Amino acid sequence: MEKKFNRTLVTAALPYANGGVHIGHLAGVYVPADIYVRYLRLKKRDVLFVCGSDEHGVPVTIRARKEGCTPQEVVDRYNKIIRESFEGFGISFDVFGRTTSEVHKKTASDFFRKLYDKGEFVEQESEQYYDEEAHTFLADRYITGECPHCHAEGAYGDQCEKCGTALSPTELINPRSTVSGSKPVLRKTKHWYLPLDKHQKWLEPWITEQHKEWRSNVMGQCKSWFDMGLKPRAVSRDLEWGIPVPVEGAEGKVLYVWFDAPIGYISNTKELLPNDWEKWWKSDDTRLIHFIGKDNIVFHCIVFPAMLKAEGSYILPDNVPANEFLNLEDDKISTSRNWAVWLDEYLKDLPGKQDVLRYVLTANAPETKDNNFTWKDFQARNNNELVAVYGNFVNRALQLTKKYYNGVVPAAGELTDYDRQTIEEFKDVKAEVERLIEGFRFRDAQKEAMNLARIGNKYLADSEPWKVIKTDPERVKTVLNLSLQLVANLAIAFEPFLPFSSEKLRQMLHIDEAQWDRLGATDLLPEGHVLGEPALLFEKIEDSVVEAQVQKLLDTKKANEAANFKAAPVKENIPFEQFEKLDVRVGTVLSCEKVKKSKKLLKFEIADGAENRTIVSGIAQYYQPEDLVGKQVCFVANLAPRTINGIESQGMILSAVNFDDSLSVVTVDRKVVAGSQVG
Ligand code: MF3
Ligand code: ZN
Repeated sequence: MEKKFNRTLVTAALPYANGGVHIGHLAGVYVPADIYVRYLRLKKRDVLFVCGSDEHGVPVTIRARKEGCTPQEVVDRYNKIIRESFEGFGISFDVFGRTTSEVHKKTASDFFRKLYDKGEFVEQESEQYYDEEAHTFLADRYITGECPHCHAEGAYGDQCEKCGTALSPTELINPRSTVSGSKPVLRKTKHWYLPLDKHQKWLEPWITEQHKEWRSNVMGQCKSWFDMGLKPRAVSRDLEWGIPVPVEGAEGKVLYVWFDAPIGYISNTKELLPNDWEKWWKSDDTRLIHFIGKDNIVFHCIVFPAMLKAEGSYILPDNVPANEFLNLEDDKISTSRNWAVWLDEYLKDLPGKQDVLRYVLTANAPETKDNNFTWKDFQARNNNELVAVYGNFVNRALQLTKKYYNGVVPAAGELTDYDRQTIEEFKDVKAEVERLIEGFRFRDAQKEAMNLARIGNKYLADSEPWKVIKTDPERVKTVLNLSLQLVANLAIAFEPFLPFSSEKLRQMLHIDEAQWDRLGATDLLPEGHVLGEPALLFEKIEDSVVEAQVQKLLDTKKANEAANFKAAPVKENIPFEQFEKLDVRVGTVLSCEKVKKSKKLLKFEIADGAENRTIVSGIAQYYQPEDLVGKQVCFVANLAPRTINGIESQGMILSAVNFDDSLSVVTVDRKVVAGSQVG
């Protein structure tokens, strides 16, 4: 039975305000959601696009602690950065709220209280780690220790980042509180649980039978949860940062962030439409769609629907198009490791290129499997597709019209078979793009739009108006008329995907509004219509631009490694007499050259205050030989000579081993006489 929907409520996952937003967010959630919403608006459907920042939860408190400020300061800062980043990319939310707003706190608190009053929760005592020095219960993330699986140090109470295993804090060997450094103790604490086990009997058929159309990655995760059997989930936490549990005797307890955050969709709607919000949330003819990333599936498909159902007056989601993950240069995007392309930085580094990123992220969208973003692919898609196909076609059509007809749309004459064949090729574009967008297949939908440009390019190349103008000027009128119609179609077809470029193109065409229902038509620009000034829609991206971005990533990677560097454990103590046996001296480098057939070795002649000596050292990857000549280096003077690559090395030049294993020669702070002893 097909349901009749009169409006669509689209939500996009509320990003955590403990950091900025990056290309993974954009690709996974916000670009597809925005395409969908823009499309619905073009179709003149009643639609509301709701988002905001998720401002509670432990990650915020961790960030605050690290930066020595309050959680509120952290979320204030990132709410602004996130909001501006999305705005910069044209993500067209109707409202972008916050879960620290008064409206939200009240809405979430009332929601909890209603479930509590209805007896929808179960209360349960459990033992949790408590920090006796800091007088606080510890969230899983605040406890570190040795991983029981791979025995790495520094595993977190919820996960070991070394081997990836999910953990619970009590599994850690030798646990420590990261708040005070003390050894945590187990203490009894009471929490409220949502009994998902009781909800399984309706949740399972609701998804697996009534929503067979959900994406297979979403369905797969849901089924595996059902197969394992749903378990009660705690909806409160012992924490200071959050919305207080509105129950007597619940001091020091707040709502679990995953309980309050999805209610943010409701409160943000309320914020925008204080008198009208219920229509969007409580009427059966509203279609609710959640755009999320794959790590959010269980919360949106199982937990939140159970909450809504338990409350009793809300609709449930009709679809949850979740994307898989986007990797960056073959490595997992990570906020904590700073392995990301941050949107605010992109907007500064590549101004005016928002649509390029939108295009690339959609072309490469992780709709069915994880995908990879590389700057090389970014450059290639820009140069070979946006510039060479779309931009080139538009530019040729407009420039030729300017040249031959002063920028006025010429009248089409009689159509040839080839013209008709070309028209045939794109007349179904509207139906195709619609089918794909409505099936949440944005990647293929965008390909269809691009196909229009390919058709146009081929049509122009085959028709050769620049040649035909000399022999058959009437024919050129038809060719350019049809080409311009295709250009106008492109402005419409790309409107949901590349809104900035579509607007620019509409200005060049002197068209005010994209009329979606006219997509596919060949009379979008009437004869005599005066076009605007042609300008380049897209610009070639040079190697140096993407190289700079790759370098930036490598730099952050280095900086991270340096920040995470842990000094090696100190070797066993030695008596002073043993140290005295070591003869370290300063020498001046007289000459230095590469050792033949070796990548690593340099051969030194060192002035050592006596007869000079030859030393071979493995630092060739880190120095140009000529740069070392004249330098003073420290060397072990009484090391027994060794033959390395046929050269007798009389000592060892000392180098510091950096965090990344690169070597840095030990020199002296002030010039000394060659042969000076170090001690
Ligand atoms: N903040 C969560 C994340 O970034 C998403 C929350 S979605 C909501 O993974 F539904 F809870 F709002
Ligand atoms: Zn491990």
